[in-house]
Amino acid sequence: MTDRPVIWIPRRLSDATLERAQRDYEVIVKDDDTPGTAEEIVEMSARADAIIPCHSEHLTADVVARLDPRLKIVANHSVGVDHCDLKALADKGIVVTNTPDVLSDATAEIAMLLMLGAARHAVRGDRLVRTGAWDSWSPSFMVGKQVTGARLGIIGMGRVGRAFAEKARGFGMEIHYHNRSRLAPGDEKGATFHESLETLLPVSDFLSLHCPATPETTDLLNESTLSRLPEGAVVVNTARGALVDEDALIAAIESGHIMAAGLDCFKVEPGGNPAFAAHENVFMLPHIGSATRATRDAMGFRALDNLDAFFAGQEPGDRVA
Ligand code: DGY
Repeated sequence: MTDRPVIWIPRRLSDATLERAQRDYEVIVKDDDTPGTAEEIVEMSARADAIIPCHSEHLTADVVARLDPRLKIVANHSVGVDHCDLKALADKGIVVTNTPDVLSDATAEIAMLLMLGAARHAVRGDRLVRTGAWDSWSPSFMVGKQVTGARLGIIGMGRVGRAFAEKARGFGMEIHYHNRSRLAPGDEKGATFHESLETLLPVSDFLSLHCPATPETTDLLNESTLSRLPEGAVVVNTARGALVDEDALIAAIESGHIMAAGLDCFKVEPGGNPAFAAHENVFMLPHIGSATRATRDAMGFRALDNLDAFFAGQEPGDRVA
């Protein structure tokens, strides 16, 4: 017998998160750790006051229209909220929160890994050694593109973009960025602001995407924008697959205009785009930007902090709708 709020957790969150959630709430955990389907989300909205979805649970306008009035808050376990129709949720009076800040360093680490791995032929090198096909060496063998001192273009200088810039400074990179608004001088730390992609792209020997997926940023990287990158540029995406026209990127890789790409995000997830797999200069990971133990705990705790505030009658710190 309890009057504690009920929360539904569709994916297997970290042990520390579950322990804390179970201490403070009535928790229903979906036991198979597969993405919550539209039907499950609708069904659970009648049994729970809150849900903690990940980016794998899609709260589209259709789903939101069918939600039971019992559901009061969607406390996302993600910084990205493109899986939620924020307007539909707000119109229905459902509060939405996300988990900013806590995953910036982990995601920036993966961007760095992808940038280095793509530039230095990590996929091919690993295959050669792993399969016993490494049978020669010469000064022209597996020559890559030097990261140290190169020009880096960052699209989206939010928390993750700034964390990546910080790491890139350690490699002596010359940092250029485009963002909706210019950073305060203290936050720029010598990075050059570009009001538009027109001037950013031609100076981006390496280009890394860190902006949210919105209707405005869909296919931001397309045939036209790719063609404005310098010959031999390297593209990194740890943000969202929606930002990239994948056919255009594959064509630019095949033509050699783009030397390599490092991708943690794809239009179709899970699964990715098999057309990339034919190219060893595409270094791919399965959307694991924030996947460290410390960050998963921090994301879970941040989602719970938002729930705690909400159920205490306060404004959750990370409210996005
Ligand atoms: C995020 O938090 O948006 C990451 O992509 C993981 O979901």
